[in-house]
Amino acid sequence: MTTFKLAQFSDTHVVRKNSVLGNGVDSNHALRAAVYNIIRSDDIQSLLISGDLVERGEIYEYFELRNILDPLLGLKPVYLMLGNHDVRDNFLGVFRDYPFIDQANKQWGVQYSVNLTATHALVVLDTLKEGRDAGYLNSDSLIWLDRTLERHRDKNVLLAMHHPMIDVGSSMLNQMNLVNHSDLSAILHKHSNVMRILCGHVHREVTGTFGSIPVQVCPSTAFAYPANLNENNVGDLCRDDPGYVVHEITNDTLSSTLHSLHLHVCQVAV
Ligand SMILES: [Fe+2]
Repeated sequence: MTTFKLAQFSDTHVVRKNSVLGNGVDSNHALRAAVYNIIRSDDIQSLLISGDLVERGEIYEYFELRNILDPLLGLKPVYLMLGNHDVRDNFLGVFRDYPFIDQANKQWGVQYSVNLTATHALVVLDTLKEGRDAGYLNSDSLIWLDRTLERHRDKNVLLAMHHPMIDVGSSMLNQMNLVNHSDLSAILHKHSNVMRILCGHVHREVTGTFGSIPVQVCPSTAFAYPANLNENNVGDLCRDDPGYVVHEITNDTLSSTLHSLHLHVCQVAV
C-alpha cells in the first residue's frame, strides 16, 4: 500500500520582514512554525498553499515569503497559488523559478497541473481578479481547465482554487466567493474525474458539496475569522486556533486531517 501526503496551508498573509498584521497577528512567525512542522514530518511529501500568500501584494512581502519557504526547497515541492490579496506581477517577479510557476501566462494567470501519484493529479486554478475580493475565472482559464481535466481523464483530480463556490456560513464572505460558479459547474459537468475541490479564503474549515463534488476549505495559518463573519464582528480577533490540513492519498482513497497551530502567534494590540 502506497501513501502520499500533501499538506495544504492557506491564507498565510505574510507581511514585510519584522512586521505584523494590522490585527496584531505575527503571520510570518505562524508560517515559519507551520513550515517547520512540514520539514519535520518525514511522511509529508509536498505542500500546497492556497492563496492570499501575502497581505498587500507588495514585492517585499513576497521576498519575505520566499525567505520563509526556501528551507523547503530541495526537500519537498511547494505548489503556490494566488488569492485576492495577491498581486500577480509582483508574485511572478519573485517566484518565477518555483515549481510549475513558469507555466503562468497572461491568458490564464498562475494555473498548472501536477501528477502527485500514478493515480492522482493536482490542478491549480487562478481565481484572482485584481482589485476585487470576489473570485473570477476568465474564459481562457475555463478553457484551460476543460483541456486539463481531459488530459488527466485517467487520474483522480484534486482541484484547487482560492475562492469557494459554496455558501460558507458567512453573509460577508458569501459575497466574496467565486462569482461565475455556474461557468465552473458547466466545465465540471463534462468530466467525472474531480474527486475534491480544495479552497481557502474563509480562514476557517468548511466542508460542503458543489454538485456532487466534495468541497473542503482549509483554515488560515495566520488567524481564524469569527464564525458567521459579518459587519458587526469583522473587527473582532477570533480566539480559534489557526491551522492547516494534511491530505492523505492511499490507493484510490483520500482522507484529510486538520492540524491546529497551537501557537501564541497573536500579539493582540490593546
Ligand atoms: Fe485571507
